[in-house]
Amino acid sequence: MHSGSLESVASVVREAKEIVVFSGAGLSADSGIPTFRDGATGLWNKVDPDEVASIEGFLRNPERVWNWLLQLKKLVDERQPNAGHQALARLQEICRAKQLTVITQNIDGYHSRAGNAPVLEVHGTIHRLRCQQRCGFSADWEQSAAEPFRCPRCGAPVRPDLVLFGEMLDEEVFAAAETCSMTADLFFCVGTSFTVQPAALLPVWAKRAGATVVEVNPHPTSLSALADYSIRSGASEFFTALSAKLAARQA
Ligand code: APR
Repeated sequence: MHSGSLESVASVVREAKEIVVFSGAGLSADSGIPTFRDGATGLWNKVDPDEVASIEGFLRNPERVWNWLLQLKKLVDERQPNAGHQALARLQEICRAKQLTVITQNIDGYHSRAGNAPVLEVHGTIHRLRCQQRCGFSADWEQSAAEPFRCPRCGAPVRPDLVLFGEMLDEEVFAAAETCSMTADLFFCVGTSFTVQPAALLPVWAKRAGATVVEVNPHPTSLSALADYSIRSGASEFFTALSAKLAARQA
């Protein structure tokens, strides 16, 4: 990571009034949660997402999807938010006079566990269940719920409260994410490959609306050319250094 870019980004943060941090699986990589598309370790390079994480897969074979997601949930419950999540919570504290919103594609809940707020979970969460028919039933997903079950209210299937492939995002959550993106003057993109729509449109809309876009990723992505700063770094390293630099000047 070029120290010059850290100082430049720090001064953009100091000037900014509305900041968005848009995160993906790469942010949780340091917690030991595999990303989806990274080389040999990427989850989708090991298992077919249509089979284990799509609505068609769920309606065809609910046990298969339930079991696979439950294994992922158990790993998420075992592990912890990492230094990257904690540095973002510190950044939010340092920027408390500004509006800083986290928009995440991650379903692990680590941002909130690290103290970030507000957090818009555009792909939902692995920690809650809901009725497939949205009759209003929802519950925390206890690991003891090892088998799919029927909604106690309406009898429809109950499923994890996350966005499966082939499904629309929650309109309210996405509308809020869109509004934040359009009013942000600084938009961080960390740990995402910009593969999945419509979430991958948010940085593009932010850029069009005039935001400075800063990408943090050890590898180039399809967004790198559009970003004002495309920083080759891991999330933990970059945000730890950035928060420290900003805190030093505050002291
Ligand atoms: N720090 C920052 N970025 C990292 C790190 C790290 N330590 N390690 C890996 N990355 C980057 C990779 O280079 C890659 O560009 O994180 C990105 C992870 O990309 P994906 O695995 O495609 O994850 P993501 O972009 O979050 O996927 C989007 O796709 O599978 C669906 O719904 C799922 O929310 C997910 C969506």
